[in-house]
Amino acid sequence: MKRVITYGTFDLLHYGHINLLRRAKALGDYLIAVASSDEFNWSEKGKKCYFPYEQRKILLESIRYVDLVIPENSWEQKRTDIHDYHIDTFVMGDDWRGKFDFLKEEGVEVVYLPRTPDISTTAIKKRLGQQMRGTDYV
Ligand code: CTP
Repeated sequence: MKRVITYGTFDLLHYGHINLLRRAKALGDYLIAVASSDEFNWSEKGKKCYFPYEQRKILLESIRYVDLVIPENSWEQKRTDIHDYHIDTFVMGDDWRGKFDFLKEEGVEVVYLPRTPDISTTAIKKRLGQQMRGTDYV
C-alpha cells in the first residue's frame, strides 16, 4: 500500500483544496491530510482560522479522497510523521516548491502539484469582506 501525506490549513474548504486532495490520493492508496491546529496557524503563519480545527477536521474527513486527518502542531513534525505513518510520498501545492526537498533525506518522494488558479482562502475572505462593506463592484 502506497501512503501519501499532505499538509495545509484547509480553512473555508474550497475547490482548490479538493483538487489538491484528489490528485494527492491518485498518487497512492492511502491519504493523510494534516491540518494546521488553530494555535500553529496563528503563531507560525499569522493567520486566524474562520473554522476551528475540530470543524476543519470533520470537513476533511468527509472527503472521499482522505483516509485520515491529524493535526499539525509544529514545522518539525513532518520528519517524524513520515516515519510514524510509514509515508512513501509527501505532497504539497507548488506555492511550496523546493521548500520541503530536504524531506527526501527521510526516504520519501516529494511532489509539488500545480495550484488551482484563481482561488484561495485569503481571496474568499477578501471578497466576502468587500461584499459586506459594499465595496465589491466587480
Ligand atoms: N492549494 C491548491 N490550489 C489552491 C489553493 C490551495 O492546490 N488554489 C493547495 C495548497 O498549495 C496546499 C493545500 O491546498 O498544498 C492547502 O492550502 P491552504 O494554504 O490551506 O489553502 P489556501 O487557499 O492557499 O489558503 P491561504 O489563502 O490562507 O494561504
